[in-house]
Amino acid sequence: MNLREQVDLDNLPKHIAVIMDGNGRWAKQRGGLRIFGHQNAIKAVRDTVEGAAELGVEYLTLYAFSTENWKRPAGEVTALMQLLVSTIRKETATLNKNNIRLKTIGNTASLPGACQRELQEAMDMTKDNTRMTLVLALSYSGRWDITQAMQRLAEDVGQHKVEAGAINETAISQYLSTAGMPDPELLIRTSGEQRISNFLLWQLAYTELYITELLWPDFRKEHLYQAIVAYQRRERRFGKTSEQLIK
Ligand code: IPE
Ligand code: IPE
Ligand code: MG
Repeated sequence: MNLREQVDLDNLPKHIAVIMDGNGRWAKQRGGLRIFGHQNAIKAVRDTVEGAAELGVEYLTLYAFSTENWKRPAGEVTALMQLLVSTIRKETATLNKNNIRLKTIGNTASLPGACQRELQEAMDMTKDNTRMTLVLALSYSGRWDITQAMQRLAEDVGQHKVEAGAINETAISQYLSTAGMPDPELLIRTSGEQRISNFLLWQLAYTELYITELLWPDFRKEHLYQAIVAYQRRERRFGKTSEQLIK
């Protein structure tokens, strides 16, 4: 049985989040510059998006640029932004063809104007698509997200739109940039690093973590299937005992 057939379509994660890591190391192994790795990451993105949509995953969130990544050398940041613009421009037609909606999370106002315009156009063009939502996390960090949520929530409390006593987990979730989306059931991180790197801190509270040594530019559909199959073999107890889960 091939890997895709091993995926149980009745127990699919609705939301998969990915920390796409290892582009620089991939390039270094080949004697190339870091940007060569980023360029080769596009194939992995394309294949993963296609694979997730074909299976019936509803949300795929890709960590593409973190708040902390602004601290990288200026040349790398500029090259990443240019790559983002050219990729969005090239791929929007395919997203439409595959009925995929594009959305972003993060402090996108801090991105260069050309990026913001390209993203806005792509989001407008794909807004009615219903098969899967592709969420790009750009200039994103979990602490940024929680901070912006708290600021807006505090404003609404100040204006008596929300009672302080009525703030609960559901209310907080609605102020996060992922409002309306289910929390990811599965987080994939490539390149072997065992950390969250300030990704979806609130939303990952009970997410299953899957870490592979594979570097992101080498990631393909088969590896996505592998991660989902591993996820489906786990027992998600949410604090209960094993016995309580068997009914
Ligand atoms: C991930 O690959 C891409 C971004 C963070 C933008 P890296 O660029 O972090 O690659 P490594 O971790 O240095 O190999
Ligand atoms: C996390 O990767 C951010 C993205 C994949 C966009 P990093 O390479 O920036 O993370 P650290 O520095 O290893 O934690
Ligand atoms: Mg990295």
